[in-house]
Amino acid sequence: MPHKILILGGTAEARQVAGVLAARGDCDVVLSLAGRIGNPIGQGVPVRIGGFGGVEGLAAYLKETAVGLRIDATHPYAARISANAAYAADEAGVPLLALRRPGWERTDGDRWTEVDDVAGAVRVLGGAPRHVFLTLGRQDVHAFEAAPQHYYLMRSVDPVEPPLALPNLETILARGPFETADELALLERRGIDALVSKNSGGAATYGKIAAARALGIEVVMVRRPALPEVPSAPTVHELIAMAGHWLGPVAARGV
Ligand SMILES: NC(=O)c1ccc[n+]([C@@H]2O[C@H](COP(=O)([O-])OP(=O)(O)OC[C@H]3O[C@@H](n4cnc5c(N)ncnc54)[C@H](OP(=O)(O)O)[C@@H]3O)[C@@H](O)[C@H]2O)c1
Repeated sequence: MPHKILILGGTAEARQVAGVLAARGDCDVVLSLAGRIGNPIGQGVPVRIGGFGGVEGLAAYLKETAVGLRIDATHPYAARISANAAYAADEAGVPLLALRRPGWERTDGDRWTEVDDVAGAVRVLGGAPRHVFLTLGRQDVHAFEAAPQHYYLMRSVDPVEPPLALPNLETILARGPFETADELALLERRGIDALVSKNSGGAATYGKIAAARALGIEVVMVRRPALPEVPSAPTVHELIAMAGHWLGPVAARGV
């Protein structure tokens, strides 16, 4: 009998974990996406899309589909689904492992102003007009409508819905990874003097942070939300090793 594994995804790491586990040959992997992106790139394994209906919905899904192992490899700011996963683990008695990607660390030359939430980011931009690069993702940007005095450059994978009601707005639709040299050119071209970012961690979107440092631009960094304490690993490689302890060696199962 194959191991039934549910991976809560939406990140490159989730896709990589799914690929490695599926390639073992003894795992039946399903990857779950929130459905935030209109046209997600191929995940390489069967995918289900959309919320489960809270903790109860997730627990019911685990029971119905006889999942034997869950992996939370969601985005570091997707705190609700991570919390639901941790609670549903107790209810359904299904083990949970998490991939917790480390955040970026401030380094020499960085000009970071850290805030607890997006409303805090709006506040620290201040009253005087600035040239702001918003890289928060489209779910979190409507709060900036409270500060229409700034010029905004907004980048997201899909268009913001409903559109941002801001008088001085330019939008870029693009999916990472983004190279530092391209980010540097973009910041210079648009005369950006403040970059608003989550502390997503990882290499794919670090280019903007490195570029801001090189140009001495302030980064308004929204701190990470608290996530539940569950057995976790910081990288795909280490998570696969953890999962391997639970799954056992491939050869021992005769596949
Ligand atoms: N989710 C992503 O793929 C993703 C990717 C990049 C960035 N982020 C950032 O994370 C923050 C919160 O995003 P969010 O609203 O997606 O997460 P969230 O606040 O943790 O989740 C909200 C609800 O969406 C559903 N959900 C989230 N992830 C899911 C998954 N992998 N499979 C099935 N259902 C899922 C769940 O609905 P039910 O309660 O109904 O199960 C969950 O309660 C935002 O700042 C966003 O920009 C998210």
